[in-house]
Amino acid sequence: MTDRPPLQPATARRSPAMTGHARVPGDKSISHRALLLGGLAAGETRITGLLDGDDVLRTAAAMRAFGAQVDGAGGEWTVRGVGNGGLLEPEAPLDFGNSGTGVRLAMGLAGVYDMVTAFAGDASLSRRPMGRVLDPLRLMGVQVEATPGDRLPLTLRGPKTAAPITYRVPVASAQVKSAVLLAGLNAPGVTTVIEPVPTRDHTEKMLRGFGANVEIETGAGGLRHIRIKGQGRLTGQAIAVPGDPSSAAFVVVAALIVPGSDVVVENVLVNPTRTGLFDTLHEMGASIEMFNRRNSGGEDIADLRVRASELKSITVPPERAPSMIDEYPVLAVAAAFAEGETLMQGLDELRVKESDRLASVAAGLKANAVDCEEGKDWLLVRGSPEGRGLGGGTVETSSDHRVAMSFLVMGLTAENPVTVDDTGMIAASFPQFVDLMRGLGAEIE
Ligand code: S3P
Repeated sequence: MTDRPPLQPATARRSPAMTGHARVPGDKSISHRALLLGGLAAGETRITGLLDGDDVLRTAAAMRAFGAQVDGAGGEWTVRGVGNGGLLEPEAPLDFGNSGTGVRLAMGLAGVYDMVTAFAGDASLSRRPMGRVLDPLRLMGVQVEATPGDRLPLTLRGPKTAAPITYRVPVASAQVKSAVLLAGLNAPGVTTVIEPVPTRDHTEKMLRGFGANVEIETGAGGLRHIRIKGQGRLTGQAIAVPGDPSSAAFVVVAALIVPGSDVVVENVLVNPTRTGLFDTLHEMGASIEMFNRRNSGGEDIADLRVRASELKSITVPPERAPSMIDEYPVLAVAAAFAEGETLMQGLDELRVKESDRLASVAAGLKANAVDCEEGKDWLLVRGSPEGRGLGGGTVETSSDHRVAMSFLVMGLTAENPVTVDDTGMIAASFPQFVDLMRGLGAEIE
């Protein structure tokens, strides 16, 4: 639905040591959830550190269309919510641009209301599967009119009264889990999500913070039952959004691979459901020191000191994928400069991200002379520690912000410059990326 803006290419070249202190923007997952729950809760929610990237601004606009008052800029936002059960029928289709999280969580939040809501997105989002969220909503009584293959644009018609369900999530997806829990907020009785593989738990944490009745039981092998009692009262909160580890990842990998670098990234979310990349890099021999560990609003936060390191290859186990699902593109770049063969497994979900990330990353690596092999759900990268002969190519980003940022990081230490065909969509998650990296010494133009 959204028109495609003109491409904005950029080139990164071999740079001097990266040094200094940086703060990355607020966590994207927490930012979406703060607006969704703030817009639903009674009273005022004050949010500091909100990511004001394109994806999150779409969620802010959607909450306005549902009747919430949402104001803010520069990270400081105030939301006056409608009260649980009080969302209004939007007058026009909600356009979520590039944002899978925004659209899937909003479909859960509003789909079960006795009203008609239409959802749309850009070309990339319209190719992504929505059935994973629509299936449980159908079980709750929602009628769906979707583009074939359960794609956007689509319209949801909620039932008079939603049926609470027990739903075992068939894919490791925090978005699916969250959509069902948010739908459960407006169903009478208890809605249960059964989660075989743990995924990011911000929704559960924040629901509790707003006063929802949520119980979590963890059984053998990490199997979790998450129960939410619907139709309770939610009350506005003060939320300080910590820095996004998925954005910090680019700064961290850049500092590791550019010789002589020494960078501190402050105020990074280190919730264990999100730190798979840092664990993996540690195993590869990275010098990443976490200090000033603290807890704010139930979330763990730390400052990270990162020093350039000689990386060794490893095999990343498939069960780690949910805790680093957005970080494989930049891990692949780190692996390109590590000694030996790095094997990443369990990557099937990468096929349905902002692009087919497994294909985009493998193609980008090959275009820049990195020796790699792509399988159905795995990627093997043969590293070249000094980056000799690497680079010199142009990467097709396929509207994928994380692919664009990853390959700009690669260009900072490859022997030859790396060009990406577009940077416009980086604003989805990290609008200040190029400026912040330049401030640390990166040569990107
Ligand atoms: C997210 C969950 C993940 C992740 C996305 C954000 C969330 O998606 O890739 O960037 O905020 O719940 P999936 O649930 O599809 O794995």
